[in-house]
Amino acid sequence: MEFIKVNPSYQKHIALIELNRPKELNALNLQLMQELRDVLKELDQDESVRVIVLTGNERAFAAGADIKQMANKTTIDMLMVDQFSTWDQIRKTRKPLIAAVSGFALGGGCELAMTCDMIVASETAKFGQPEIKIGVMPGAGGTQRLTRAIGKARAMELVLTGKFIDAQEALSFGLINKVVPVEIYLAEAMNLANEIAQMSPIAAMLAKESVNRSFETHLDEGLHFERKNFYLTFSSEDQKEGMKAFIEKRKPNYKGK
Ligand code: HXC
Repeated sequence: MEFIKVNPSYQKHIALIELNRPKELNALNLQLMQELRDVLKELDQDESVRVIVLTGNERAFAAGADIKQMANKTTIDMLMVDQFSTWDQIRKTRKPLIAAVSGFALGGGCELAMTCDMIVASETAKFGQPEIKIGVMPGAGGTQRLTRAIGKARAMELVLTGKFIDAQEALSFGLINKVVPVEIYLAEAMNLANEIAQMSPIAAMLAKESVNRSFETHLDEGLHFERKNFYLTFSSEDQKEGMKAFIEKRKPNYKGK
């Protein structure tokens, strides 16, 4: 793998993925996205991994899709390459996925962070959808996920002006979970991952699926879906362990079974 570094045992049950095209501010070329898709698929099936953290470097999470790779493409080139099928597969990751963002998260970079389940940011983080400035528009969920996350008025402003917001604004808009000093943003994301890794991975997976379903459907259908997943947790050993541990006043030891 050229553009992705992965450490599957950075901390117990947590895998750390690093985007690794630093000179290009982690611009998301096709190869990088394919590598990311492949590694996420592998980690999703790795029983020792319960939570995945995705990060860039201090200067950039990712400054967007690779403009140099796209500049001369025709509509038909774009259509035939079908890069979004890669994004669709990334979106289907079943384990909790946390973005640890420092520096630029722009265009496809902002969309990639929003594809994750939670975002922990450094004070230096900048979010934006600047595609309009290069004559295009968001294509990997920016108009949809940003609008759901921060509302129409703010999403319109970001998408139509291309301006960036800083981490504090992103926090106040509800786009991200936490802002911390740059020195500790990755450690903070790992702490959050570690907290989730203590839970039953089966319950976490089913809960993630249910929360995501709320964006896809109406309330009655969503409640129905949630109920089915709730019932499903009762066929896990982890449910027995979790409730028994509560009654015995001890910490549960979840096995993902
Ligand atoms: C290709 C990029 C890039 C990108 C930066 N670089 N962003 N290359 N695609 N998206 C390259 C620069 O060309 C430069 O290479 C090097 O990274 C450092 O960038 P600089 O511009 O010199 O850094 P700086 O002056 O600090 O400015 C940082 C920046 C700026 C504000 C982030 O780079 C920028 O505006 N980037 C583009 C942001 C953008 O428009 N993103 C949306 C892309 S479209 P050299 O070789 O000159 O050193 C998109 C569509 C998504 O994402 C659709 C679905 C996938």
